[in-house]
Amino acid sequence: MNWQKGLKGKVRLDEPLKKHTTFKIGGPARFFIEPIDVEDLRLSLGLAKKEGLPVFVIGAGSNLLVNDGGLNGVIIRLCASYFKEFSCYNGNIINAGGGLALGRLVWSVWEMGLSGAEFLTGIPGTVGGALAMNAGVSEKGHNRSRITRSIGQIVQSVTVMDSSGRIRILGKKEINFGYRESSLSRYIILSALLKMKKEGKSRINRRIRSYLESRLITQDLSKPSAGCIFRNPKGDSAGRLIDSCGLKGKRIGDAAVSLKHANFILNLGYSSSREVIKLMDLIEGKVKERFDIDLEPEIKIWG
Ligand code: EPU
Repeated sequence: MNWQKGLKGKVRLDEPLKKHTTFKIGGPARFFIEPIDVEDLRLSLGLAKKEGLPVFVIGAGSNLLVNDGGLNGVIIRLCASYFKEFSCYNGNIINAGGGLALGRLVWSVWEMGLSGAEFLTGIPGTVGGALAMNAGVSEKGHNRSRITRSIGQIVQSVTVMDSSGRIRILGKKEINFGYRESSLSRYIILSALLKMKKEGKSRINRRIRSYLESRLITQDLSKPSAGCIFRNPKGDSAGRLIDSCGLKGKRIGDAAVSLKHANFILNLGYSSSREVIKLMDLIEGKVKERFDIDLEPEIKIWG
């Protein structure tokens, strides 16, 4: 059948996914579609169903390891302007499109003299990706306790499309948000209403800059990576545990544990997904042996 029939957006065959992941790793996608609106998106789902192929939605590709062999499926990227909406209601409710980059969200919210999105500064993702995995930060509060801020805490409602193409609006009480996971991951996230509050622009700006600075100080942005590889075990930090095992700098092929932050694996040039997986296995083994703790991957592994 003619895949492109009726679709207005771009359709690419055998598109290398390494071009669409921050790790710069990943083989070809059988079909790679960039729908231009919701009708186009529905058509893409229908076509995938007819071909009997699984659907994968890719945001900024920042928390993702794709197999070197690629994916025999339909990869959908919501990068058309339709999916990047940004508007404000009632003075403090932001309507943000699923394909909107978090950086754009943070600065657009600041421009309106609204606060509440600063903690998303420097997270290399889209609104949809952040909601699907309840992205956020954990930081030191007063009296040295750790505070977790995640996007789920500012959500009012989320508009999604289910696998049959039906659009639903889910109120915050209908959504489960956990640590780096949410019940939204089974849907295609079209947009979300996020609640902000009025505040002076210079104070918001100071907070944004401080988030940026602490990210630059602690995290390794020198080479392609997928951010933190493992979830933090309850009450501890995966980075600290891996560091304590002496694994900083450990290298398999072109995949290496960062010297700056041990929960980052860097792609030094031509790393394969196999090399990353082998390095992850080695790390998990060492942490289990030394601390009797099972590390769980934070990144999504496709294929
Ligand atoms: N640490 C080490 N060695 C290391 C790395 C960290 O000893 O190599 C120690 C630090 O000194 C610190 C503690 O471990 O005392 C925690 O480190 P950090 O503040 O860097 O935070 P993290 O727990 O490693 C979490 C999130 C990050 C988020 C930061 C800042 C997870 C898995 N990671 O990191 O999120 O940016 O807090 O809020 O939840 C991500 O999800 O991809 C990510 C990078």
